[in-house]
Amino acid sequence: MIKKDIQNFLGTRVEINLDLLKRNFTELKKNIDPKVKIAGVVKANAYGHDLHTISDELVMLGCDYLMVASLREALSIRKYFEKEKSHPSVPIMVMGATTQSDFELAIKANITLTLFSLEDANRLNALALDLKTTAKVHVKMDTGFNRLGYKDHRLMVEDIQKMVQMPAIYVEGLFTHLALTDRDSDAIQFRKFDDVISALQAIGIEIPLKHVCDSIGTIAYPERQYDLVRMGALLYGYCSRPTPFELSPIMNFKTNISAIKWIEAGEGVSYDSTYIVNEKRKIATLPVGYADGLPRMLSNQGYFIVSGMKAPIVGLMCMDQCMVDVTHISDCEVGSEVILFDSKALPLVLLASQAKTNRNEILSRISMRVPRVFFKEDKICKIVDYLL
Ligand SMILES: Cc1ncc(COP(=O)(O)O)c(C=O)c1O
Repeated sequence: MIKKDIQNFLGTRVEINLDLLKRNFTELKKNIDPKVKIAGVVKANAYGHDLHTISDELVMLGCDYLMVASLREALSIRKYFEKEKSHPSVPIMVMGATTQSDFELAIKANITLTLFSLEDANRLNALALDLKTTAKVHVKMDTGFNRLGYKDHRLMVEDIQKMVQMPAIYVEGLFTHLALTDRDSDAIQFRKFDDVISALQAIGIEIPLKHVCDSIGTIAYPERQYDLVRMGALLYGYCSRPTPFELSPIMNFKTNISAIKWIEAGEGVSYDSTYIVNEKRKIATLPVGYADGLPRMLSNQGYFIVSGMKAPIVGLMCMDQCMVDVTHISDCEVGSEVILFDSKALPLVLLASQAKTNRNEILSRISMRVPRVFFKEDKICKIVDYLL
């Protein structure tokens, strides 16, 4: 359910600042060639930020394309936009594989599919012909990531030559993905991509949207933006390389203390008593656990922020709760705010390193139990609560 007018929201929640999303997008736009299109990558619930809200905002900001990993994500955006009567013609693309049994759904919802075989192209063409429409596709090329795409580039050029002649297929794009191991291996990937573009041009085929770069690629190789860049992390405020403009993470993860108790020397905390205190300690219980998206690796590891101070995580992380030691924090009580991560006191990358994972894993695993509270001009403008 989407609530719009609650001005105060306590409990476990993520707060998402849409003004900062706008700032990240605007800065990005200033730093790329105006001819280059921007695709917003909104897979995995827009990296945990809410698929529908972020898709809507990005299109309003001027994003040219929305890209997701799976057809169901693409259909979900299309359905939402239909319900809201907004952005009826925004292009939405599935970057991952789609099974033939789902082709008809994709065609009917005008979803661009990624193809990497002639067999799939033939099937899609036949279905699109039956439905008296055209199916838009981007062909994926594997240049070294070894995940998805044509590995045999000569075969790919031959297949594209056949695809462009199919009456109900429109080959709009050609793309690959960088492994970003180092500049030398990236250069090899770019060279393979360029060789295919040249081979296609030599037989008179010009593909309108050629694209390679994600957030890091776009920043590291400003001269390699081709016709489109696929931006995920950077829009949400993250990039692991130095950026020519300031980036602002748009999400803070917060909760409020649900209980505080003193425990005596020799007592343990949580399952298995893996944390036993050797003196009297003040322990705060938080209503957030691994089912909300906190890594269980944070058991007895790392800290959260209470009243501006570090509160070490103690004991095993439970499904719905966890405990922090607040003995040294006098200024806290039941209801006090706790920062699980934010852009200042406890950056997500730091929390991720404490949990021995990366930021995208934490973001994308923030569960449906956690309401997304959206802010514009310091006021709550929307709350997305997946459960109510
Ligand atoms: C094919 C592809 N392109 C673009 C992206 C966006 O990457 P980033 O979040 O680094 O911008 C991803 C994300 O993993 C991806 O898989």
